[in-house]
This record gives sequence, C-alpha cells and structure tokens, in this order.
Amino acid sequence: MTEEETVPAVRADRLYKVFGKEGPRAVDLLSDGRHRDEISELNVTAAVIDVTFDVEPGEIFVVMGLSGSGKSTLIRMLNGLLEPTSGVVEIDGTDITTLPSNQLRRLRSQHVSMVFQHFALFPHRTVLENAAYGLEVSKTPRAERREKAYHALGLVGLEGWENHVPEQLSGGMKQRVGLARALTAETDIILMDEAFSALDPLIRRDMQTQLLELQASLGKTVVFITHDLNEAMLLGDRICMLRDGRVAQIGTAEEILNAPADSYVANFVEDVDRSRVLTAASVMLPPSEGLDSSVAPVHPDTTLANLFHRASRSPAPLPVVDDSGRLVGELDGSALLAALAPNGGEAGGAGVSGTGTTVTAEPGRPVSKEGGRP
Ligand SMILES: Nc1ncnc2c1ncn2[C@@H]1O[C@H](COP(=O)(O)OP(=O)(O)OP(=O)(O)O)[C@@H](O)[C@H]1O
Ligand SMILES: [Mg+2]
Repeated sequence: MTEEETVPAVRADRLYKVFGKEGPRAVDLLSDGRHRDEISELNVTAAVIDVTFDVEPGEIFVVMGLSGSGKSTLIRMLNGLLEPTSGVVEIDGTDITTLPSNQLRRLRSQHVSMVFQHFALFPHRTVLENAAYGLEVSKTPRAERREKAYHALGLVGLEGWENHVPEQLSGGMKQRVGLARALTAETDIILMDEAFSALDPLIRRDMQTQLLELQASLGKTVVFITHDLNEAMLLGDRICMLRDGRVAQIGTAEEILNAPADSYVANFVEDVDRSRVLTAASVMLPPSEGLDSSVAPVHPDTTLANLFHRASRSPAPLPVVDDSGRLVGELDGSALLAALAPNGGEAGGAGVSGTGTTVTAEPGRPVSKEGGRP
C-alpha cells in the first residue's frame, strides 16, 4: 500500500461548538445522539456537532452544506479564531485548542491563511500592499514582503496591477488579491470560506480552475467551504457533507454520487449531472493486453460529457493516457453508460478499484493522482 505515516495537515476530532451558557451540557446530550432540535430547552445553538476528519497534506478538502449547517463555525475553529466547546483541532500535528494565545498566533501565521468571501481588502492600500499584508503583521522586512507579494500576484495573474487600488479591480481580481495574500504568507494550509460565492459564474469558474492549477503546482492543503454542490464536486479531493451541524458523509465526489450515506445525501446529489462530475479516470477499466494503440487517447480528467461522442463512434476501446504519457486505462461506451445511472457506476468505477490496482477516481482533478502530487 502507498499509505505512509503522514501527519494530517488539519485534524478535527469529535469537535463541537455549541453557542450558549449550557454548551457543555448540550454536548453531553448531543453525544448521546440527540438532534439539535431536541435540546431546545437548553437555549443553545449547536452549530457543530461531533465532527471528525483528517485532511491530508496537499489535499483539497471541501466542507459543503446548506446555510446554517455550521460550515463557518467549523472553519473558524480550524484556525483557532473560535474555541471549541469540546473536541480537538490539530494543525500539522499540534493541538491548537490548548495553545497559549501567543503561540496560537505564531502557529497561525506560519501555517494557516484564510481567504474570505468578501475579499477583506484595505481600500486605500495598493494591490501589492494588500497582498503583502500578512507579512507585515509578522514583521517581515519590507523588501522581502514586496518581493514575495510580487511573486504571489504573478501566480494569480495580476502582474501589472501591483500599484492599483482595490476599487479599480473587478470582483474576480479582488478575490485574486485575497488569494495572493494567502500565497504570500507561504503557509502550507489555506482555508477558504465561500471564497468564490460572490463571483459571477464565469469568473467563478475561472477562479476554480486557477485554484486547481495552483494547488497542483504548489501542493497546498486547502479546506474549501461552499454551499454549492457542483463547486464541491469540481474542487474536492474529498467532500465533507454537513447536515444540521453533523457530518452526513465524507468521501470523494464519486463515492458520494455512487454510494450516498443516507437519503438526505441521496436527495442532495440527485440532480447532479453525473456526466459532468465523473471523469474517464473514474469509469475506465485497467488497460487490456491487446488495446489498439492507434486509437487517439483521452486524458483521465476528461468528463464523461466530453467523451460520449468519441466513445459511441469508436469501434475499439479508447486508451486513457495521463500527462506523463502513461497508459492508465481503457474506456468503452458501455462502461460510460453504466456509470451514468445512479448506482450504476459500479459497473465501471468499482471494477477499477475492485481490482486492487492503484487507479484512483479523482473527478475534477487537473493532475491524475497516479502521476503523484507535488
Ligand atoms: N457567534 C454566534 N453565536 C450564536 N450562534 C451562532 C454564532 N455563530 C453562528 N451561530 C449559529 O450557528 C449555526 C451555524 O452557523 P454557521 O455560520 O456556521 O453556518 P454556515 O453553514 O456557515 O451558514 P452560511 O452558509 O449561511 O454561511 C447557525 O444557526 C448560526 O445562527
Ligand atoms: Mg458561513
């Protein structure tokens, strides 16, 4: 197995946040399995209930749920802005719930940056100064701050805009500054709370693509909050579905689509266009011996929606070839169709994972997992 002894970048262990005086008592009742509506006599708001997960280094972990499901409360506990009522948060192996505040501040500035929905830019500062802000707080020398901020602005496509002020920028560009600020801080973990939710759809799509590219090249750990299932499926290596403060399911987009944990999750994902979530990688079979190599290959990340035409017209299975030119699988029209029926993905997808090969379904990833994460 490829399982190594890595320390999770972010770890939540039986985490609770209950607002109100009777928080600790509420935790006792909730941990016995009571729904948050059943403890209304305590006059508390149970925002996060018994949440446990590990986020691996380099992973994009999406927390997804409806309004009020506890997403923001959760992320604020992950960076130590909010103290849990019960449970533990670890950042790169350090329990932050017991850290004195000066150490917490230091750990946060070295390990965790945050990108907000409404940009949180200083209106009278230039783009460059805004991007450098985190380093200013940590008292990095000016020249170094500027150099790092220049570099980060380049990474997000804002070179040439360094001396503008935020009001001269579009929403998408402002959010790029927010992202550049997080990159300038050079933390290994970036927390993003509905970071793209205020953007127009096309710009949002651009930002999603850019985040995937940056993540693939820089290998950051990203915890990304959204209430948009399509965004969750596109971005997430894994998705944590929250319902009324509790975890409904944690899994890859494919796992959630093909094996929803309960009827709530099933209803939630019912309307997802599977052909736009599932990729060649998730439905391909291991390459067979006699695969016709003259057939033009497809990339593992190609969505099924973009494969129909070719698959239905090709007399031979399509070779699936990754970025490094390696043959990783093959695909034919029937595997493709089988994957589209709810629970029908098992015909293709489960066949692959069931063989014990290392082919891993990673819908929406720009780089195949097999090719290795940077
Ligand atoms: N400081 C607070 N004091 C009391 N209740 C709070 C506080 N912060 C959040 N809550 C409550 O906790 C619950 C979860 O809120 P939270 O903001 O975490 O949800 P969310 O999933 O981020 O929602 P949204 O999608 O609307 O941002 C809500 O019922 C909210 O009213
Ligand atoms: Mg929120």
